[in-house]
Amino acid sequence: MNLENNQYKIQNINVLDICAEFGSPLYVYDADKMIEKLQKMQTAFEGMKVKIKFATKALNNLSVMKLFRHYGAGLDTVSIQEAQLGLLAGFEPKEIIFTPNCVSFEEIKQAVGLGLTINIDNISILEQFGHEYGDSVACCIRLNPHIMAGGNSKISVGHIDSKFGISVLQLRHLVRVVKTNNIKVTGLHMHTGSDIVDSGVFLEAAEILFDVARNFPDLTFMDFGSGFKVAYKKGDITTNLEDLGKKLKKSFQAFCKEYGRDLEIWFEPGKYLVSEAGHLFVKTNVIKTTPATVFVGVDSGLNHLIRPMMYDAHHDIVNVSNTTGGQRVYTVVGYICETDTFGWDRKLHEVGEGDILAIKNAGAYGFTMSSQYNSRFRPAEVLVYQGKAHLVRMRETLEDLTKNQIVMNFDEK
Ligand SMILES: Cc1ncc(COP(=O)(O)O)c(C=O)c1O
Repeated sequence: MNLENNQYKIQNINVLDICAEFGSPLYVYDADKMIEKLQKMQTAFEGMKVKIKFATKALNNLSVMKLFRHYGAGLDTVSIQEAQLGLLAGFEPKEIIFTPNCVSFEEIKQAVGLGLTINIDNISILEQFGHEYGDSVACCIRLNPHIMAGGNSKISVGHIDSKFGISVLQLRHLVRVVKTNNIKVTGLHMHTGSDIVDSGVFLEAAEILFDVARNFPDLTFMDFGSGFKVAYKKGDITTNLEDLGKKLKKSFQAFCKEYGRDLEIWFEPGKYLVSEAGHLFVKTNVIKTTPATVFVGVDSGLNHLIRPMMYDAHHDIVNVSNTTGGQRVYTVVGYICETDTFGWDRKLHEVGEGDILAIKNAGAYGFTMSSQYNSRFRPAEVLVYQGKAHLVRMRETLEDLTKNQIVMNFDEK
């Protein structure tokens, strides 16, 4: 979103026109930004056989998934339903990596039935997998390298107390299970967390993966997960992908040489690809002055974007209806009957009731974590592609709140 002649625009379209056409609250995604990020990533790791698997959990809109497929990405999924969406979006089953956690073996069997690339993160499941399939179905192993990484404890998943992955300390056990069941391991995987600033974390984890890899002769790929930090506010440090690409290339190529095969290198970015491309546009319902602050109450809340409340995440907010004049300090809150503050003490150009505010960096884990709490409808979604705003998900209606309910009648005698 750029400010041109006092108007905020996405691909030359005034965002106020988009809101006028599709209403608010509204998620709007800039396809150009998504493509730019995908290509930046492909460039950062070029020279290696790199495959970028978009993490569906960040944004599961079918049109966005199709866009990434069109521009050469594969898919990372964590549930059978995400994988089914991927198939609907046209991905080849093998292009979809299935990395669930604590799901039943039935779900793994379903995923095998769909032909997905299976990633297993638990020895008990691996044993069942071996009994069922032997070497007839290949799999990838998710390892837990025991590295503390990530922006906060809820999104740090590679440490010793985490439920994710098979511990590298269980390597001997892992190798025993693989050998005795004749399991064909073609991939190794790790994902240590989100919002990782220090690219050294990836390099350290890579060394651990290389060590483990020496025990598995049939590998065709290594998946380094994701966790690339993006800027949520001015001055935020981000993961230096170019630097990481250069350093990882060196160690990865050296490892491949020793291993005797040119392996593919996979990544699973979510936030990196879609966070900055997305905005949640909300309308100011009320201005409420209290002894402590001036609240801007908007037509949205934790039901539409829960990251500020759940992770204390900072999202920049701008008044797109008024881009000039003096700024005042406001606290931007939602309409949910719970404390749902989008931002404390934000300097905004004078806000009036009816003004549209943009909550930035809302592309990742925005819509996908939304709910119908307080019986509110989920917002519509718009994808701006080649200079045109396309409605890619309709706003919910009362029917969406009631459609699965079976209503009892207590009035009949
Ligand atoms: C296995 C796996 N891969 C990829 C991702 C995407 O991470 P990010 O959005 O930080 O890029 C996640 C996020 O939780 C994940 O659990």
